[in-house]
Amino acid sequence: MSVSQVIPSPRTTGDARDRILRYTLVERINHWIAGLSYIYCLITGLAFWSPYMFWMAIIVGGGPAARFWHPWFGLVFTASVLWMYRIWRSDMVTTDADRAWWKAAKYYIRNEDENLPPIGRFNYGQKMFFWLMFYGATLLALSGFALWFFESIPWSLRWLRYLAVAVHVAAGFATIGGFIIHVYMGTAMVRGGFTSIVRGEVSSAWAKTHHRLWYEQVTKKTSGQK
Ligand code: HEM
Repeated sequence: MSVSQVIPSPRTTGDARDRILRYTLVERINHWIAGLSYIYCLITGLAFWSPYMFWMAIIVGGGPAARFWHPWFGLVFTASVLWMYRIWRSDMVTTDADRAWWKAAKYYIRNEDENLPPIGRFNYGQKMFFWLMFYGATLLALSGFALWFFESIPWSLRWLRYLAVAVHVAAGFATIGGFIIHVYMGTAMVRGGFTSIVRGEVSSAWAKTHHRLWYEQVTKKTSGQK
């Protein structure tokens, strides 16, 4: 679903300074529920994982509170990722433009966007991150349920207990890796991205530089061309 439109900014005039809606309010609410619930699970999960990181549980209310709330926040995170899947799944399908972009990804790393082939609403890296979080959240939820009701798993099925621990830790670390890259790219590397996920808008110049195919699609739609 690409819900986007050109919004004339109240503060500026002229095409070059038009603002484009990148994220709807619903998309932003969904994103921040996912972001905040993930951070809570991250802090408390790391506190349970190693005694060296137990101090992290103290800053969110102490060990017993963290143990009580971790699975509930996990449920909120899972629900928000399923919701995200409903909203963005069609935008996250890999296209030929993504393959061409991925081949030239070295220019992206060097911040030389002018040498990159044009890309749609999301680039290949963003799409991979989405799928990592989707499958990661699924595995975390399945293994998390087994850990939540650990005592109910009969001893004859103890392999399931071991598997649940291994899958929960592996999926947790895989998502942490993706999360660190995501936050770095969104806040430090691609200027303007963070404002878009908070306020919803980007400038036409930003859209043209980073997501040209999407920009063309959105502006064509708004100007009534086919
Ligand atoms: C709390 C820390 C987080 C920050 C600071 C953050 C930041 C951002 C930013 C700046 C964007 C807009 C990027 C752009 O359009 O260029 C974005 C988009 C997105 N975020 Fe997050 N995010 C956070 C947490 C999460 C979490 C936990 C998830 C996992 C479900 C997530 C999933 C996404 C997805 C799928 C997108 C759209 C594609 C992309 O840009 O990767 N975010 N986020």
